[in-house]
Amino acid sequence: MSNILVLKSSVLQDASASNELVDRTVAHLKAQDSRARIITRDLAADPIPHLAPDSAAVVRGAVPSNSAQVAALRLADDLVAEIKGSDVIVIGAPMYNFGIPSTLKSWFDYVLRAGVTFSYGEAGPEGLVKGKRAIVILSRGGLYSEGPAKPMDSQEPHLKTMLGFIGITDVTFVRAEKLGFGPEHREQALHSARFQIEEAVNRQVAQAA
Ligand SMILES: Cc1cc2nc3c(=O)[nH]c(=O)nc-3n(C[C@H](O)[C@H](O)[C@H](O)COP(=O)(O)O)c2cc1C
Repeated sequence: MSNILVLKSSVLQDASASNELVDRTVAHLKAQDSRARIITRDLAADPIPHLAPDSAAVVRGAVPSNSAQVAALRLADDLVAEIKGSDVIVIGAPMYNFGIPSTLKSWFDYVLRAGVTFSYGEAGPEGLVKGKRAIVILSRGGLYSEGPAKPMDSQEPHLKTMLGFIGITDVTFVRAEKLGFGPEHREQALHSARFQIEEAVNRQVAQAA
């Protein structure tokens, strides 16, 4: 039985490409393991607050000294427990202004914690969240995997860096691109992404066996 952590971050709710593709990914994973336990966080519907002085203090290791800090540490610990307890992480990440939604960035701001999810040793930083696989759905209006806009992609490299920094290096990116180029391109992009998801899940199941 596997534990699946699902993060959604689109503000478009039912019209969201990434939400649809995340649901599809989870359905495929569930079809392979009907007893899989799933924790879902919709970060657009139920946002994690941006870091503020109290939350930043405890995320950076301070002992809580007021109720706001106690609550922030509880949230940070819950989020870390969810990722550490998972086998597979499915992330829906739309591109907003060339990067990820700020709500998803907030999740990372609470989860990347020195001494908890990464450490600094003599060999440099080491990720402490090991043995996980991630499937990341990238939805974008434009084309960034190739062509002139490629250098503007601050979404995929940023996610790869943050996940890798905490030790999650087995990451499959599923790209739904050119979603804003009209209905035909959108349908093609979704079709291609659905195929990529099938491949990613089959690979994940073969590796887990
Ligand atoms: C606030 C906002 C900013 C966006 N910025 C970009 C952008 O920088 N580049 C791009 O290609 N598409 C951009 N888009 C388009 C989205 O990436 C596209 O609509 C995608 O489908 C969103 O994913 P979703 O359908 O899962 O919500 C933006 C959309 C929104 C709502």
